[in-house]
Amino acid sequence: MSTFKILVTSQKGGVGKSTVSANLAAYLRRQGQTVTLIDFDTHGSSSTWLTRAPNIGVVVQHHILPLDQGGNRPILDARLHLRRAASSSEIVICDLTWTDSIAGELMFEYDLVIVPTSVSEIELAATAGFLSRHRWVFDSAIHTPPTLLVCPTRVQPEQLQSDVFSKQRFPVSFMLAPPVLEAQSAREMFERGYLMDLQDACGTSFNEFGKSVCAAREMRESAQGMRQTTNSRITAPSMRTAGMSNMATAGVKRNNLLGNSATLSSQYSILGRHRMQKVRPEDMTNKSAPHTDAPQNTHIASMGIPQFLKRMSMGVMNK
Ligand SMILES: Nc1ncnc2c1ncn2[C@@H]1O[C@H](COP(=O)(O)OP(=O)(O)OP(=O)(O)O)[C@@H](O)[C@H]1O
Ligand SMILES: [Mg+2]
Repeated sequence: MSTFKILVTSQKGGVGKSTVSANLAAYLRRQGQTVTLIDFDTHGSSSTWLTRAPNIGVVVQHHILPLDQGGNRPILDARLHLRRAASSSEIVICDLTWTDSIAGELMFEYDLVIVPTSVSEIELAATAGFLSRHRWVFDSAIHTPPTLLVCPTRVQPEQLQSDVFSKQRFPVSFMLAPPVLEAQSAREMFERGYLMDLQDACGTSFNEFGKSVCAAREMRESAQGMRQTTNSRITAPSMRTAGMSNMATAGVKRNNLLGNSATLSSQYSILGRHRMQKVRPEDMTNKSAPHTDAPQNTHIASMGIPQFLKRMSMGVMNK
């Protein structure tokens, strides 16, 4: 069984890492996956959330990394816990506040690195700095880099109209998840339930975010499938065993998946192909949006969150 490993991290405090980790674990569990959440934070917020909320079947662990010991100890510990958990779950999610004492190599252990960030300019600049320092991981040609998914969190409905992503240049290729909205109802869910069950715009936004994580996974696995198929073609002449026909069959299945991934990629992997380019500000303003405060909550659902991304892509593609 190949386990999909997700790291939810950022160097900033209070951006929503634990909220995203606990609720994503619950979301993926409800999709029928076996899920382990490893909480690497001292506060233990995500593990406490899942332990005290109605049991949804996520395996929960809380390990405090020896960050003060420096050297390789933190990364060795993290790797050990991750690999153990991976042997018994289809998905492992780790909640970790990044510090400079953690070696960047740790990120290579993961398939997906989710970086929650608020959309204020000051926080986006901090996120860009964090990504810049780890550019060598995401651009690595030696190891397989993790997929990077930037997730706007705690987003106020009126911020959906802003063009912050056009002003901030990110130094690495990344996928942009639909935003998770800020709501009092989300705070009230702590230890009581899950964002995916909220019957409001925040609940809708979280479900859209969950879908984008599944899409990111499918795209990555399709790409890996394609790579393996290509490799198997290259080595095919020397393979004359039954294993070869198994490989070929697997290749067909993967090619079918690729069809889906093209659609998914046009929805979710937009800025990755257009990094360092600016989005035209006029494309960021939603011309059909009513200019009142109240209707914007319902507006996010009606505009469909992939539309939020499409508007951003139009700007760069029409350049
Ligand atoms: N979508 C949301 N809507 C409203 N409040 C939110 C949302 N997401 C997180 N919060 C609130 O923001 C605060 C920080 O959230 P959380 O603990 O998930 O962030 P964190 O990045 O894990 O923080 P820390 O760095 O302390 O570990 C909490 O009070 C939480 O309830
Ligand atoms: Mg936390």
